[in-house]
Amino acid sequence: MLGRCVAVYALFACFCVLAGCGKSGPTETSPQVLYDQHCAKCHARAGEPGGPPKIGGSKGPNLAKIGTEHDAEWLTAYIRDPKSKKPDPKLMPAFGGTLTEEQIQSLAGWLAARK
Ligand code: HEC
Repeated sequence: MLGRCVAVYALFACFCVLAGCGKSGPTETSPQVLYDQHCAKCHARAGEPGGPPKIGGSKGPNLAKIGTEHDAEWLTAYIRDPKSKKPDPKLMPAFGGTLTEEQIQSLAGWLAARK
């Protein structure tokens, strides 16, 4: 009986993944999750979740107040392709090929609200 239950559950979980109802992976749109996965290793301060382990190990600028400098439109273009906004963005990668347009806009809106 128990075995049957597990099988039914596994089947259901499988359908769930195929139907995309689990919110993770390439369709993830929660900006906090995206930030932790793709940006925190360079943009979080040491000791913050997902940030570099050592003090001063962070490569990118602090984005905690980025919304005071740039709006969501600027940030969308910059995250997609930093060179479109700055001639020499150094280590900041272009995410146009990694993230979907929806994910980039989600991140940009979230960052623009950090003031
Ligand atoms: C490999 C390290 C690295 C990763 C990963 C990274 N960045 Fe950056 N980022 C940088 C660096 C370095 C700069 C500074 C570029 C410059 O102006 O020379 C920067 C600059 C920025 C700026 C501009 C700040 C300003 O005031 O001009 C924004 C916005 C930004 N990053 C957002 C993001 C977002 C969002 C992600 C994740 C999708 C991300 N970055 C991932 C290294 C990184």
